[in-house]
Amino acid sequence: STSTTLSITVVGASGDLAKKKIFPALFALFYEGCLPHDFSVFGYARTKLTHEELRVMISRTLTCRIDQRENCVDKMDQFLKRCFYHSGQYNSEEDFAELNTKLKEKEEGKLSNRLYYLSIPPNIFVDVVRCASLRASSANGWTRVIVEKPFGRDSQSSGELTRCLKQYLTEEQIFRIDHYLGKELVENLSVLRFSNLVFEPLWSRNYIRNVQLIFSEDFGTEGRGGYFDQYGIIRDIMQNHLLQILALFAMETPVSLDAEDIRSEKVKVLRSMKPLLLQDMVVGQYKGHSKGGKAYPGYTDDPTVPKNSLTPTFAAAAMFINNARWDGVPFLMKAGKALHTRGAEIRVQFRHVPGNLYKKNFATDLDKATNELVIRVQPDEGIYLRINNKVPGLGMRLDRSDLNLLYRSRYILSVSNSINQEFFNFTLFFFRVCVDRYPREIPDAYERLLLDAIEGERRLFIRSDELDAAWDLFTPVLKELEQKKIVPELYPYGSRGPVGAHYLASKYNVRWGDLEDA
Ligand code: BG6
Repeated sequence: STSTTLSITVVGASGDLAKKKIFPALFALFYEGCLPHDFSVFGYARTKLTHEELRVMISRTLTCRIDQRENCVDKMDQFLKRCFYHSGQYNSEEDFAELNTKLKEKEEGKLSNRLYYLSIPPNIFVDVVRCASLRASSANGWTRVIVEKPFGRDSQSSGELTRCLKQYLTEEQIFRIDHYLGKELVENLSVLRFSNLVFEPLWSRNYIRNVQLIFSEDFGTEGRGGYFDQYGIIRDIMQNHLLQILALFAMETPVSLDAEDIRSEKVKVLRSMKPLLLQDMVVGQYKGHSKGGKAYPGYTDDPTVPKNSLTPTFAAAAMFINNARWDGVPFLMKAGKALHTRGAEIRVQFRHVPGNLYKKNFATDLDKATNELVIRVQPDEGIYLRINNKVPGLGMRLDRSDLNLLYRSRYILSVSNSINQEFFNFTLFFFRVCVDRYPREIPDAYERLLLDAIEGERRLFIRSDELDAAWDLFTPVLKELEQKKIVPELYPYGSRGPVGAHYLASKYNVRWGDLEDA
């Protein structure tokens, strides 16, 4: 309503995440008409900047959904006019009191809601939360705080962080982001399972042989070595992004789609899991490599990384869920930087067809002929089901084919495709009023999450008991890796990672799926 205002303060406004993700996502929401009528965006950081300098900085990363839309430049101007800057220390209550004065000016006495996005290193989370909550909370509306990992380094430090935050905020005010939960295909996981008759009945140890969660990047830690070396790939990707996907994949049917019902089911499945064992884990680190006349640096060539660092940039793990549905089914995770390709996938390998009548008709061995469901989170989003099919002709030869749902061709419209656009406008029903068009491109995860935080929708944010359960699974093995000073297996930059990952998989009779075999 026009008598309510929203202020969004991005703390750490000059940082990378703010520039690359948060401001562009806010603009995209504005562009799509998803922000309230009355809003302002504040950047807060230590650097001295004018409003204008902030605007210039932000404008460099803004893009339109499609460049051709004439009103885009206009919209950018309108958006930038609502952006302001306040410089201050992160631990100064006075500086936040000044911010409060500036926020109030913009709010003009209306009912005001305030959202803080902490895009800052974790060692100053608590300072900022203290200052903001004591001096710059909304007097008459809600105040919410979005925080992003790392949430500690293990169970203990994470618990401590939660306790400190809760001195100043209630659980309802804290929005812990895991941006993988904002990805389209991750959000679709529950739709796939719970609104299609054909999948959910198969979703158990009776039919599923193993589940693979794979994350791969084809670049190293370039520029982020300082942060990364403190955490490593297990804390950076596995304990959060991959485990969250696993929880959504494996949880029981929630009572409803309410945030608390969904998060309770996720906690339940996490608590049914065995903490990871060292023997079920492989760690690796990339080394320098030259290919085609180009030299690629090793992890420890980064000047911000100690030469003798044992921090893993690759890890593979086998995890198990001790419940009736999943008993004995290996969930294999693999995450690595500086590998041969970029992608994230969930691969579900089904069991063999018992007494298969067509044994003799396969060109490949039967083991490769089991059904496989692949959910490709990125890039080139899609879902495909590998089935066995008769090769057309008079003979009886079978091969593997895909039932293939490629988002690019099914959902993403080209500019010229206006007839389709009309058709979709007419037939599709969306729950959010602002999302009335068919997407030109899949929205960035941060757009969905920011919109959810503004709307108070907590489904895609991590509750504190969930976070505790996630840390409990990884803390023992992380401690052991560090105490025993386990040396990671080196792999060349741009390769497929350490061979150890294959031994780990074969220990459980699993063959890793290949990200490139679609
Ligand atoms: C972040 C990690 O959480 O996710 C990064 O800290 C990683 O190391 C990034 O690169 C990957 O996100 P995306 O959305 O690019 O797959």
